[in-house]
Amino acid sequence: MADARPFHWEYRPEPAAPEAFRIEGGAPLRGTVAVSGAKNAALKLLAAAVLTGERCRFENVPEIEDVRVMVQVLTDLGVVVDHPAPGVYEVAAGDVDWLFIPLEAAAKMRASFILLGPLLTRFGRVIISNPGGDRIGRRPVNLHVDAMRALGAEIDYRNGYYYAQAPGRLRGGEITFPQVTVMGTENAMLAACLAEGRTVIHPAAQEPEIDDLMAFLVKMGAEVARTAPDTIEVHGQRRLRGANHRVVPDRIETGTFLVAAAVTGGKLTLENAACEHVGALLDLFARVGLPVRCEGTRMEVDATGLRPGDLRGLDIETAPYPGLATDLQPPVCVLLTQATGDSHVHEAIFEDRIEWLGELRKLGATVDIADAHNAVIRGPARLHGAEASIGDLRAGASLILAALAAEGTSLIHGAHHVHRGYENIDRKFQQLGATITRSADPA
Ligand code: EPZ
Repeated sequence: MADARPFHWEYRPEPAAPEAFRIEGGAPLRGTVAVSGAKNAALKLLAAAVLTGERCRFENVPEIEDVRVMVQVLTDLGVVVDHPAPGVYEVAAGDVDWLFIPLEAAAKMRASFILLGPLLTRFGRVIISNPGGDRIGRRPVNLHVDAMRALGAEIDYRNGYYYAQAPGRLRGGEITFPQVTVMGTENAMLAACLAEGRTVIHPAAQEPEIDDLMAFLVKMGAEVARTAPDTIEVHGQRRLRGANHRVVPDRIETGTFLVAAAVTGGKLTLENAACEHVGALLDLFARVGLPVRCEGTRMEVDATGLRPGDLRGLDIETAPYPGLATDLQPPVCVLLTQATGDSHVHEAIFEDRIEWLGELRKLGATVDIADAHNAVIRGPARLHGAEASIGDLRAGASLILAALAAEGTSLIHGAHHVHRGYENIDRKFQQLGATITRSADPA
């Protein structure tokens, strides 16, 4: 499929100086936007390439900061990574010089921990830093460590680092998680692919990015499949081969642009989208009173006829897939500020992914934060320009949505958070008629 990427590709590494978005809100967004490849698939696919010494080629990789960090971590290990064209990365992990993931990498990006499984199962040992990641909760990795131990790994924790080794080879086994964990499932699956024997992972997370990763592993020669919606079974192989793969569309970016149309009273067509991965969000849009048209990889939403208050408020609760994704809670909260009534928000996955609503309040939203997991949004509220600060990736993109919907000018500090996970988001919004610029933070 030709890349319908209407933007000039130009990856700009993060500037040293902090940057802010300056946004003039109030204009309805109109036009067509191409959804990029999924960050939370691409990062794991790049890590999975370490399972073989042969070359792997990935297309539709989003040009975002987190991908740049993952590439840096891989090249620091001694893995060869080529970047022959926009969105195209080739990885050849013939051998590695170092089996060490430093604190700096982990502090920049929690997803670096996904290298635990592949490095341990391929090379038999790894020293990896306890990760940092977004400011949305404690986010421990105990379930990942337990999963590796269930496969026979010996792991000690000293001075902020996990010292992991697999005497001989990892052995297949039963991995039973006490709760659903996305990257825990992925680390277990990756490690099991080269472990000796059969591994059963239950409950296995069901996010579409996991099935995208599984599809790539099967192309590599892995024997891995879902034997039930929440169960993954793996029969380990001695070696895997190189393979090519196109990254699945980003369902969180998809939801972000659907909400952008709704809250600006605009009309958008999304290309390269995956309707089948945003079912919970489409149900929510229908209940709020703004149906979305889906045809294959195109989605259309038209909010031009909406009047303030036409949208109906409703209660939401985040849940593991196929429930409403926690990463969609922030954009959906912006939508609910424009809906009539009291909407109760229950953030069930992370312990402080509600606090960002305090920043949304600065733009005029009426929000009562009850505790770390619950809030009430009262709408419809007229949003106005304001200064606000971004604490994490998804909240950042949602503050942009609120500023686009607001009357007046907003200054949103912390642009780098957003560029970790959204490719060219300011350019994409500009092409849809938004007045948004990113520049050195005057603060
Ligand atoms: C993945 O994080 C995503 N990140 C997150 O997206 C996403 O919000 C999350 O899944 C939930 O869908 C990537 O894929 C890189 P979890 P992950 O393990 O795997 C607790 C974004 O913005 N837990 O499913 O780290 C954890 O604290 C990011 O792209 C443990 O207690 O999430 C949380 O409360 C934000 N111990 C719950 O489980 C563990 O060892 C679910 O976390 C692991 C997790």
